Amino acid sequence: MIKKCLFPAAGYGTRFLPATKAMPKEVLPVLDKPLIQYGVEEAMAAGMHNIAVITGRGKRAIEDHFDISYELEHQISGTSKEGLLRDIRRIIDTCTFSYTRQIEMRGLGHAILTGETLIGREPFGVILADDLCVGESQGVMAQMLEIYEKYRCSVVAIEEVAPEEVHKYGVIDGRQLDDGIYMVNAMVEKPGREEAPSNLAVIGRYVLTPDIFDILRRTEPGKNGELQITDALQTQARENMVLAYRFKGRRFDCGSVDGFVEATNYFYRQRCGAEDCDP
Ligand code: UTP
Repeated sequence: MIKKCLFPAAGYGTRFLPATKAMPKEVLPVLDKPLIQYGVEEAMAAGMHNIAVITGRGKRAIEDHFDISYELEHQISGTSKEGLLRDIRRIIDTCTFSYTRQIEMRGLGHAILTGETLIGREPFGVILADDLCVGESQGVMAQMLEIYEKYRCSVVAIEEVAPEEVHKYGVIDGRQLDDGIYMVNAMVEKPGREEAPSNLAVIGRYVLTPDIFDILRRTEPGKNGELQITDALQTQARENMVLAYRFKGRRFDCGSVDGFVEATNYFYRQRCGAEDCDP
């Protein structure tokens, strides 16, 4: 069983400025719950209770969120508001949290490599909290874990995107092995529409085997001068095996204003019991 889940959360969140000037993108709330809490709940639902977070300057609110606030709890104790902290208390009681700082923001691959000290030599999950996922019958990370258990190699989550959107993602070239499961032949980071090998885009959920750290160490900076996880996965696919999994459910790109608004509307309709909100 995989117990550890890594949350790279050191990015600047420039698409959400000025909101993210002094506040981490990961604590922006969809309704009344911070993005990263949705991600941690998804990890927990997959049995991953050791949460490792890559933070950076100005990200202390993340650590404070996953800690007890004695003054606040004392204040609302015995009132009708006590229930509002129930879920976060359950998380704090059942998970461990460890943090390390990425000193220079040199890309997602570099953030994941920074997490080696927290992960060690075991397979682990990765969740990018700004990709908010709603699984169909079970969470997306739990779905991915089932694929990992069967094939024992790195697994990336993919979804079909419109051709004019491929330039925002890592895109795979793969051969279908099973329903929704592809063997990755190649991966390209943010390709132009013409060079994209498919419209199957990698989203912010991964299960990685620990040899990825050694590969990242020998990977040169790629697109935008950043150390790209896509480049390391491409090497891993060539030397070993990487699977891409078309998850069952829905993803909201909460790193963008449009996706964030969509997610907010979706969760609001869910809360109000509207019928048109199947994932
Ligand atoms: P993004 O590409 O969304 O970058 O990173 P960003 O900085 O968060 O947002 P924009 O594009 O400027 O608006 C994808 C994920 O990788 C993390 C981010 O925190 C996010 O979860 N990341 C990215 C790091 O932890 N470190 C980095 O150096 C880069």
